[in-house]
Amino acid sequence: MAWESSSVRTAFLLLLSFLLGTASAQLSSTFYSTSCPSALSTIKSGVSSAVKSEARMGASLLRLHFHDCFVNGCDASVLLDDTANFTGEKNATPNANSLRGFDVIDTIKSQLESACPGVVSCADLLTVAARDSVVALGGPSWTVPLGRRDSTTANQSAANRNIPAPTLNLSGLITAFSNKGFTTKEMVALSGSHTIGQARCTSFRARLYNENNINTTFATSLKANCPSAGGDNNLSPLDTTSPTSFDNAYFKNLQIQEGLLHSDQQLFSGGSTDAQVNAYSSNSATFMTDFANAMVKMGNLSPLTGSSGQIRKNCRKVN
Ligand code: HEM
Ligand SMILES: *[C@@H]1O[C@H](CO)[C@@H](O)[C@H](O)[C@H]1NC(C)=O
Ligand SMILES: *[C@@H]1O[C@H](CO)[C@@H](O)[C@H](O)[C@H]1NC(C)=O
Ligand SMILES: *[C@@H]1O[C@H](CO)[C@@H](O)[C@H](O)[C@H]1NC(C)=O
Ligand SMILES: *[C@@H]1O[C@H](CO)[C@@H](O)[C@H](O)[C@H]1NC(C)=O
Repeated sequence: MAWESSSVRTAFLLLLSFLLGTASAQLSSTFYSTSCPSALSTIKSGVSSAVKSEARMGASLLRLHFHDCFVNGCDASVLLDDTANFTGEKNATPNANSLRGFDVIDTIKSQLESACPGVVSCADLLTVAARDSVVALGGPSWTVPLGRRDSTTANQSAANRNIPAPTLNLSGLITAFSNKGFTTKEMVALSGSHTIGQARCTSFRARLYNENNINTTFATSLKANCPSAGGDNNLSPLDTTSPTSFDNAYFKNLQIQEGLLHSDQQLFSGGSTDAQVNAYSSNSATFMTDFANAMVKMGNLSPLTGSSGQIRKNCRKVN
């Protein structure tokens, strides 16, 4: 019988594993090329007009993607609003009164829904918007694998547990990223995101007033806008030198003890990552390449694919 010929059996098993493989964790950069050919250009122009009207928005969108991916994977769980009977992630400690950019995502999503109803996921939208934000602020570009689907759940306690806190020391930072499969070198590269954007006084006050490994001139100028009590929401740039430019200035700042967050300065405080900070400080191209590769890896954290999850119509709520 033909079935007993080993070549037929092998072909069948190959076909089966191909079908199962494509139905599970397979992302592809051409995922929308026939189902929504305008998807990528729609996202790019939405991001670039948002960044044009407020440069910081590029930083905010990049951070949204990070806070999505570190909590049950890149599934747009971070975008779900709390309701009377649903607790999302927006009020988790690292997110509350801090995450922003939700309106920009809503605007782009509604454009995508007009062009291709029910096709482009909020999780892919966030992933592409993060890439386009970095590009809009002068950073590297990379190809984004696509085909993520959206969660129907969120997990506030996982957000509290998995998103690294600015109070962490170097070993805590290494562990937080290693829990998500990242090397120490990738953690340092990804931290270079803090070359753009702003932090609230409450996120760095303790460093200003209690730590010794902070540049005195730098600390003095920050104290004017971040008093020892009050002013919790006053903002300062994470990279004072060039806060809206995606460059390697973050690493140069660390070398002169001008990291804004405790966690930032931990990367250059006599420990195992000093050499990597020096390398990125002296070679911007290496930083850009390593950052881009680490971003692709972050975007691939536990995506929902195949028939898991759904394509939300409104990123803020389950269909
Ligand atoms: C290494 C561990 C990290 C810690 C402890 C950390 C912590 C923080 C904190 C505390 C803020 C300021 C929030 C506020 O005060 O409202 C912040 C801002 C920011 N973070 Fe991180 N972060 C880390 C890694 C990352 C990564 C991996 C990315 C992106 C890939 C990222 C992107 C950003 C951006 C762009 C901002 C500025 C956002 C804005 O201006 O709206 N961070 N981060
Ligand atoms: C949540 O509450 C709203 C309003 O009471 C109701 O319409 C909805 O079905 C509830 N959702 C769930 C998942 O229980
Ligand atoms: C939420 O995350 C916590 C902490 O990571 C975990 O223990 C819990 O099982 C998760 N809950 C759900 C419903 O997935
Ligand atoms: C880092 O922080 C952890 C948790 O707070 C602590 O147990 C550990 O001793 C610290 N490590 C160093 C080297 O300070
Ligand atoms: C503090 O910053 C200045 C430049 O702003 C730099 O010349 C000096 O070396 C820094 N101090 C330390 C301890 O890094």
